[in-house]
Amino acid sequence: SAQLNDLAVRAGLKYFGTAVREGSTSSDAAYMAIINNKSEFGSVVPENGQKWDSTEPSRGSFSYTKGDITTNIAKKNAQLLRCHTLVWYSQLPSWVSSATWTRANLQAVIEAHVTNVMGHYLGQCYAWDVLNEAVNDDGAWRDSIFLRTFGTDYFAIAFAAAKKADPVSKLYYNDYNLEYNGAKTTKAFELVQMVQAAGAPIDGVGFQGHLIVGGTPSRSNLAATLRRFTALGVEVAYTELDIRHSSLPASAAALATQGNDFANVVGSCLDVAGCVGATVWSYTDKYSWVPETFSGAGDALLYDKNLVKKVAWTSVSSVLAVA
Ligand code: G3I
Repeated sequence: SAQLNDLAVRAGLKYFGTAVREGSTSSDAAYMAIINNKSEFGSVVPENGQKWDSTEPSRGSFSYTKGDITTNIAKKNAQLLRCHTLVWYSQLPSWVSSATWTRANLQAVIEAHVTNVMGHYLGQCYAWDVLNEAVNDDGAWRDSIFLRTFGTDYFAIAFAAAKKADPVSKLYYNDYNLEYNGAKTTKAFELVQMVQAAGAPIDGVGFQGHLIVGGTPSRSNLAATLRRFTALGVEVAYTELDIRHSSLPASAAALATQGNDFANVVGSCLDVAGCVGATVWSYTDKYSWVPETFSGAGDALLYDKNLVKKVAWTSVSSVLAVA
């Protein structure tokens, strides 16, 4: 039967992709066989390996062992690669987050980090999540060492450094809960405008898409929200899609609702010129951050724990097939 990336490309998207959990790549051959199938996943992204705590655990000492796991998979399979992430308040080593910085010194730290990491992956990343999760759910700027040191100036600093280090990759702002089109979405919209007004380059906005079964907006509302951003001249994508059940086990009805929610999200991307693709944040319920974070919740993905396709997989393939 037709597979997700093949269908997505036929429908006009650039890719249908998945995150890769680095720790399972050498131990789980069945998990890897599906990732290595480019007809199913045309793009991969490292779940953790390119984050600051992994790539520069101490100042000036760079490590790419974990990040390279996923980039090598992309290379071997000729898949697109999303790269994740450069400037983020989380998984930020304490040598950055717990020090007191002058603007000049922290700017030098950001520029050295961005230059080195993007330099290592030069020519490999379709897109980079340059700036991740800079807005709170209530629509305030998110507190971080970056905000405390620079105010909002660090947005443009990050994008300008990224463009200098890698003039080719698409440079993204990436965040969650933008799908609801509330105060957080408006603040992210402002962020894009601020970066543009500062003359810094921004090419895309990633809608992470960490959603809840039964609480996912309609296809038309999702599309309208994407269009707010494409109207600014940036592309958009769903970058970390998963739709979790709040309680488990999921009933047959809940599994059907989940499928419908997935179809609405993927369908909204099809509806918007400038929505380039969708990535699931791991593809199987066997490996997901969700139950590790929300106790009792989970089963948020397209394949179950035994790597068997769920109703949600069929819903996604159907929505892609009719496009
Ligand atoms: O690698 C260690 C392992 O050695 C140790 O035994 C184990 C014990 O807890 O921890 C392992 O590290 C964990 C790491 O994932 C690798 O699995 C960390 O504790 C855990 O905090 C980390 O969680 C990741 C999380 O980001 C951190 O914020 C999740 O896997 C990852 O899916 C999640 O991804 C984020 C995106 O980057 C940004 N958007 C939200 C998304 C979900 O939170």
